Amino acid sequence: MSNKNSRFPTPSDALWLPYTQMATAPLPLVAVATEGVRIRLADGRDLIDGTSSWWTACHGYNHPHIQQAVKQQLEIMPHVMFGGLIHEPARQLASRLAALLPGDLNHVFFTDSGSVAVEVALKMARQYWMNQGQKNRSRIIYFRHGYHGDTFATMAICDPDEGMHAQFAGAMPKEIMAELPVDEKSQAAFEACLAQHAHEVAAVIIEPLVQGAGGMKMHDAATLARVAASCQRHQILLIADEIMTGFGRTGHLFACEEAKITPDIICLSKALTGGTLALAATVAREHIFTAFLSEEPQKALMHGPTFMANPLACAAANASLDLFEQEPRLNQVAALSKQLEQALAPCRWLSSVKDVRIKGAIGAVEMSKPMNLNAVRSQFAALGVWIRPFGQVIYLMPPLVISAQDLTVLTEAVIQVVTALDYAQ
Ligand SMILES: Cc1ncc(COP(=O)(O)O)c(C=O)c1O
Repeated sequence: MSNKNSRFPTPSDALWLPYTQMATAPLPLVAVATEGVRIRLADGRDLIDGTSSWWTACHGYNHPHIQQAVKQQLEIMPHVMFGGLIHEPARQLASRLAALLPGDLNHVFFTDSGSVAVEVALKMARQYWMNQGQKNRSRIIYFRHGYHGDTFATMAICDPDEGMHAQFAGAMPKEIMAELPVDEKSQAAFEACLAQHAHEVAAVIIEPLVQGAGGMKMHDAATLARVAASCQRHQILLIADEIMTGFGRTGHLFACEEAKITPDIICLSKALTGGTLALAATVAREHIFTAFLSEEPQKALMHGPTFMANPLACAAANASLDLFEQEPRLNQVAALSKQLEQALAPCRWLSSVKDVRIKGAIGAVEMSKPMNLNAVRSQFAALGVWIRPFGQVIYLMPPLVISAQDLTVLTEAVIQVVTALDYAQ
């Protein structure tokens, strides 16, 4: 990484930061460059990234193959509208995704963020029924601890308490929250919920195997398979939100593969472009797509974000898929998983720790009490790592290419900070 001088000593007052109480927040760190698994700060420090920039940078930063693809595309055509025009990067990407995804998930609708990909999935599911004359099937069943985005339709299907949106409760549509069917009792309750609401429900939405922003909660493939089987039994569509889990994070290219299920609709984003550019995709199975084919214009999917299928982002995503083909990412995830399991095990014995959960390249330490998040975050930065706990969870989701040595720096920092919290109890 080149040694640049600090260019931005203080943040601009014009910035309004995400999830931040601007009155009391400490000054944010200023990033000036990235390389591999490191983020360089304006003060010259390098932090090892334990979060892959909100779970996106699966190949690490500045991968030359992705850079090259984006530079090449920049020369040819950085952007063109997607209404009435298509282009090769999008066509290629759509057919590659269709080939990689399970079953007949063959029809790819591009958007530019995870929340909008979920919005499109909800719209598709509702219109699937409308187009068949079932206008009353519009409600959505979601799970406790779920998180699906920050827009109004997605806020309505986040965990009502942990989803950060409780104060908007009155302003959102009333969807139906269920518990994950993790055992016989909860399975019976889930079945009863589906039986009661099937006539008015368009779809069930789930984050397969790992519920991320709602608390890094994990469930097994059998639970996911039960959800899919129940949806099938009650003829309710299943939407898999793989925005976080997609592209290797849980150990398979897509988490649904582990349960051998094919959801009716799947949402992808985050690692789709290897964390370089904003892009998302909502992919539908054949029967969903064909329900929109008609002589009647109003049966079309009426959606079209201005920057959908941005050619630069599609070029980056195609290059990212090349890397999944050419480099041993899933083997790397298996090795990371093993190391996370061993290295975070000592946390289990600390009284301040409620639970330690590992799945693929995700390691989560749930504390038994809320932490002072700002203080904990700055302790991590002082240890040379970028780890950003939320709620009661300290988690690692490093780039899949991280070396064993760098991962050790991350896990040792977690142990140090968690131990200090333990003493402070
Ligand atoms: C599972 C899941 N769905 C949807 C989203 C929303 O994505 P975005 O922040 O790109 O709108 C996120 C973001 O963290 C997510 O983890």
